[in-house]
Amino acid sequence: MENKKRVLSCIQPSGMLTLGNYLGALKNWKSMSEEFDCIFAVADLHAITVRQVPKDFRQHIYDTFALLLSIGLNPEENILFLQSNVSQHTELAWLLSCYTQFGELSRMTQFKDKSLKHADNVNLGLFAYPTLMAADILLYNADLVPVGSDQKQHLEITRDIAARFNGIYGDVFKLPEPYIGKSGARVMSLQDPTKKMSKSDDNVNAWVAILDDEDTIIRKFKRAVTDSEAKVCFKEGKDGINNLINIYSAVTEKTVAEIEKEFENKGYGDFKTAVAESVADALKPVRENYKMFISDKAELERIFRSGAEKAEAIAIKTLSKAMKKVGFIR
Ligand code: TYM
Repeated sequence: MENKKRVLSCIQPSGMLTLGNYLGALKNWKSMSEEFDCIFAVADLHAITVRQVPKDFRQHIYDTFALLLSIGLNPEENILFLQSNVSQHTELAWLLSCYTQFGELSRMTQFKDKSLKHADNVNLGLFAYPTLMAADILLYNADLVPVGSDQKQHLEITRDIAARFNGIYGDVFKLPEPYIGKSGARVMSLQDPTKKMSKSDDNVNAWVAILDDEDTIIRKFKRAVTDSEAKVCFKEGKDGINNLINIYSAVTEKTVAEIEKEFENKGYGDFKTAVAESVADALKPVRENYKMFISDKAELERIFRSGAEKAEAIAIKTLSKAMKKVGFIR
């Protein structure tokens, strides 16, 4: 028990979570939860870097927490909580911000993308976002952080900040490793497979929601953009098919070679149906569990409060240690 590696990851409560969130992160969370000491949180503080409508925001937090339970994470064996319920996250974020350079934050691609997208609200929180994320990870001395490949740069800056702090004060923080799955690490838009699948896409056919029903999932995959070669194989220039192969591989755990063989003499229509059905089947239990969990908010609250207590017991130790090293009186 003692020697189990610690895993930490978080997800923003951004309303409808997508198949990208599921294959890039949540599916791995579930499989890792059986082997490691896992801590997972809803990153509600990160979500206010863009404007939220309070009533919807609150609902999205409940929805996202219910989804964590729906994918099968056990709150007795893992720590599941809301980031804003453990105040050490913001406290450590401030400390770390004084060891984070303006230049390195300016290079973050997510900051650059989001500042273009929300040009009327390029706020300090958006800029400092990676420092809060570093605090989430470093508070718990995580060994592994399961994320999609879009978060890799944030993991690198977390390591840089931790190494810089340790360089001055000795061994305070553990340097975490990203855990990025092979096939689901970057699920692309079904309508423009050169772009990441994201629920902020205006075209609803571009993304599949974890809670979409079977008919919707099948319709969206049938409309997925492909090419005119009519050959199911993974190669450069076939972005649409490559994306479908990746999705199918992540869901079924078949290799690319196995998939190419399976569809050797079949057309895109058959392939799209097979991908859609595999996704719909994988998400069906999540959808069913979700209905049950979201109908009992009092129970959700009980679970996330109990998770926050367990998280805080760990977080408080790391924060105190770091602050004492800097010279604060605790
Ligand atoms: P977020 O909420 O945008 O996404 C949650 C997880 O889903 C992954 N993901 C994808 N993976 C594959 N293909 C896609 N199209 C796709 N879209 C999203 C993300 O990589 C992520 O793993 N900053 C983080 C949340 C966060 C966090 C942390 C993560 C806050 N603190 C500490 C790890 C550790 C974020 O915005 O993820």
